[in-house]
Amino acid sequence: MTPELIARYDQRVPRYTSYPTAPHFKPEVDKAIYAHWLSELAPNTALSLYLHVPFCAELCLYCGCHTTVARSYSPVASYVDLLAREIELVAKSLPNRMDVAHIHWGGGTPTILSGADLRRVMSLLERSFGILATAEIAVEIDPRTITVDHVEALAQSGLNRASLGVQDFDPKVQKTINRIQSFEQTAQVAAWLRRAGVAGLNLDLMYGLPYQTTESVLRTVELSLRLDPDRIALFGYAHVPWMKRHQALLPEKAMPDALQRVEQSTAAASALLKAGYVQIGIDHFAKPEDPLVLHQREGRLHRNFQGYTTDETTALIGFGTSAIGSLPQGYVQNAPSTVAYREAVTKGRLATVRGLALTEDDRLRRRIIERLMCDFSVDLAKIAPGAGQHDFATELLAIDELARDGLVRRDGLSIDVPKDSRLLVRNVCAAFDRYLETGTARHSRAV
Ligand SMILES: C[S@@+](CC[C@H](N)C(=O)[O-])C[C@H]1O[C@@H](n2cnc3c(N)ncnc32)[C@H](O)[C@@H]1O
Ligand code: SF4
Repeated sequence: MTPELIARYDQRVPRYTSYPTAPHFKPEVDKAIYAHWLSELAPNTALSLYLHVPFCAELCLYCGCHTTVARSYSPVASYVDLLAREIELVAKSLPNRMDVAHIHWGGGTPTILSGADLRRVMSLLERSFGILATAEIAVEIDPRTITVDHVEALAQSGLNRASLGVQDFDPKVQKTINRIQSFEQTAQVAAWLRRAGVAGLNLDLMYGLPYQTTESVLRTVELSLRLDPDRIALFGYAHVPWMKRHQALLPEKAMPDALQRVEQSTAAASALLKAGYVQIGIDHFAKPEDPLVLHQREGRLHRNFQGYTTDETTALIGFGTSAIGSLPQGYVQNAPSTVAYREAVTKGRLATVRGLALTEDDRLRRRIIERLMCDFSVDLAKIAPGAGQHDFATELLAIDELARDGLVRRDGLSIDVPKDSRLLVRNVCAAFDRYLETGTARHSRAV
């Protein structure tokens, strides 16, 4: 990719963790509709559960997640009560006691919960659902605050995958982003997890942060590799200070520009490939024997709100403030504010505040965008059997414009994103996004 091309395409585009994307959810999809959708689920569907914990010990200045600082345990303890109440409410709305194939604790920092509270919620889930013996149980962990106690509580509850937030090991970067975390601290937590028998270890790294250079990113990659993770996520810093006010405290002048971001991401990717990892989609890397690699090879890789996944469920249920669920009928999102969430749940009501009922057109575009994000190629004829070029006339015009710049190759209805423009795949997806023009949302940059 030339600097001109990067400059031209470094636009604001969605991350496509869903289609349609969350800014297009509408209040018409309310708790009554959600309850109805839950009741309509096929009884033998294996569910995925996402539990959101919107608290952290302190705020990292780059953070784009839905979280706040908890200065004492009391808001966390009350939140656990609400989560428990919501789990009971949702379980009651389902057609029967349903199986669960995936549980993902995200945040914020789920391990801000005490070991006892983590166990309490996990045992409530066990009573309310049939957790499959093969279920993946994953937790996002902040290595700065977790204790060996937590690790044991989680391991006893069946935890089998942990994602450790790292970002960058460089002291200057860490000081700037307000996240001081030594390599030793991170290594200690990885060792606890391994000793407790937690099989899957993921690390989250970032590029594009203030004062990061290609060398500092490579040094972080090199240190991370010493921990022998199964998976590494390498996220480009999404700078959206109009949505996340604390990001405005970061020195914009010290942030790498688009070209430097591409260099950092490309250099880190090369180092990870050289170390034997396989690239998954735009920002994940996994060992060759990892299930993500198998799924990618077989065209069965998926993308959801947590990123790339092997999860093939048609029913993802979100618990907690701001949590998004994805059901066969459409998307639902809970109240983002703890006040509104508490108000609903304590009154025995679901906390849904918006969502989107999928049309056939949404489903078709969602399949196209997901295949592009996961496989970097899509055959429209396979996704829409019987369709011809005239059915995608507008989209193909946009694709052909991208093709002139070398971002894609098109052969009839078959679209392929070449290796060196894959960082810009979201721009290719945007050609199929019917909502993009109508929205008022401002997204982060493409690279
Ligand atoms: C919920 S946090 C992980 C768990 C824990 N709170 C921690 O930070 O260690 C999820 C991950 O999102 C990524 N992230 C957060 N804010 C981001 C942003 N603005 N742009 C890109 N990635 C971001 C970070 O890599 C972070 O580790
Ligand atoms: S990156 Fe993790 S620890 Fe830092 S503020 Fe965001 S959610 Fe909290």
